[in-house]
Amino acid sequence: MASYDVIVIGSGPGGYVCAIRCAQLGLKTACVEGRETLGGTCLNVGCIPSKALLHATHQLHEAEHNFAAMGLKGAAPKVDWAQMLAYKDDVIGQNTKGIEFLFKKNKVDWLKGWGSIPEAGKVKVGDEVHEAKHIVIATGSEASSLPGVEIDEKVVVTSTGALALPKIPKKLVVIGAGVIGLEMGSVYARLGAEVTVIEYLDQITPGMDGEVQKTFQRILKKQGLDFIMGAAVQKVEATKTKAKVTYKLRKDDSVATVEADTVLVATGRRPYTDGLGLQALGVEMTDRGQVRTDAHWATSVKGIYAIGDCIAGPMLAHKAEDEGMAVAETIAGQAGHVNYGVIPGVIYTHPEVATVGKTEEQLKDEGRAYKVGKFSFMGNGRAKAVFAGDGFVKILADKETDRVLGTHIIGPMAGDLIHEICVAMEFGAAAEDVARTCHAHPTFSEAVREAALACGDGPIHS
Ligand code: NAI
Repeated sequence: MASYDVIVIGSGPGGYVCAIRCAQLGLKTACVEGRETLGGTCLNVGCIPSKALLHATHQLHEAEHNFAAMGLKGAAPKVDWAQMLAYKDDVIGQNTKGIEFLFKKNKVDWLKGWGSIPEAGKVKVGDEVHEAKHIVIATGSEASSLPGVEIDEKVVVTSTGALALPKIPKKLVVIGAGVIGLEMGSVYARLGAEVTVIEYLDQITPGMDGEVQKTFQRILKKQGLDFIMGAAVQKVEATKTKAKVTYKLRKDDSVATVEADTVLVATGRRPYTDGLGLQALGVEMTDRGQVRTDAHWATSVKGIYAIGDCIAGPMLAHKAEDEGMAVAETIAGQAGHVNYGVIPGVIYTHPEVATVGKTEEQLKDEGRAYKVGKFSFMGNGRAKAVFAGDGFVKILADKETDRVLGTHIIGPMAGDLIHEICVAMEFGAAAEDVARTCHAHPTFSEAVREAALACGDGPIHS
């Protein structure tokens, strides 16, 4: 038995960042992880492997569609699927080993095994019980399925199975036009699969700015994704090699079926806290199965905190990381803080989609006076040079004060471009502050400046 200041349960982006920050702040820290490797869903079966496959298949897309126009002639590359998966696994390995190295460097003990909390102040891992003045629950989330749909991770898969399919399906049905469905749908469409996305709502990516939703869906359709909108999936019947998906159209209650070699269920995730013993401890939960926390990530039981996907808020790795750092600082007696109004969201398709702050729909609902500054990537020289003119930057600013309230980008490197707006929003900047900042030419980020100019006297290049 060992005694710690802090034991963090779970080593995903929330947990490992929290553990490292605790150690940096002088707290004796351990992190419990039952997986063979550190890094949680994000590094092992989520963000990182999906980005490897998105990168590889985007290169293929470029070779097939844009190389010839640039004078790069010859047959497009052939896909060696086993090698592509090996490349993805190598990327995972480099990242998970990186966390192991950081734990050693910062003297964070890795307690290998699945943890539970027999009582406040104690964490059980295997047969050993360790003492901890503070316990941080960072156990993340798991894919949630639908009634009538049984996941076998072979024919009917979650994102985990979709990252390691034995072969590229000829026909893929994706249930849910959210982040996972569209990222993985893009991967397989680029690899030649016929992809049909079935979505319950009438728009893709719920919660995003309406103009972005429309443009994004148009671009994805052009890339070959087929959409069945306003359709509730009722059941999936699978054999060892095929599946039949039955859905009902909401507009007229008609029922139809579609067949596929693989069905990806991407209808959201739910908090994962199984086996921790939270009920016996009396830790309060919300009716959505999240651990209830106060403004300082404290649960209803003294000395136990929770962060990341298992509490309220967007299920995003970087939101979990920020909470991990903030709760570490709180435990160390500092003032940990997360600004939930400035958390970016990114979809890593091509083009990328990135968003921060309020959408136009939210501002309308709030009855707020706002102005819109919009700039198309068609007016951006760099974007045109690399076949990336489709998309735009849209900045929403307060009509009176010009303060930036939200920004929505669909276009090249949107996931990186959004951060100048995040910084601007953190500093309470006006659109004019962004517009008056010199932006290097020729860069994609000039489109952000032009959108900021569009909030004032107007952009130059449109
Ligand atoms: P999501 O919540 O993004 O999308 C789920 C979609 O499924 C919604 O559009 C919903 O309307 C639809 N749906 C639900 N029930 C349905 C039904 N019966 N029939 C048809 N459609 C139905 O969930 P997703 O894509 O599974 O992602 C899970 C979580 O992981 C999200 O919170 C997401 O933010 C996070 N994530 C983030 C990534 C990123 O930041 N790039 C990448 C992957 C996941």
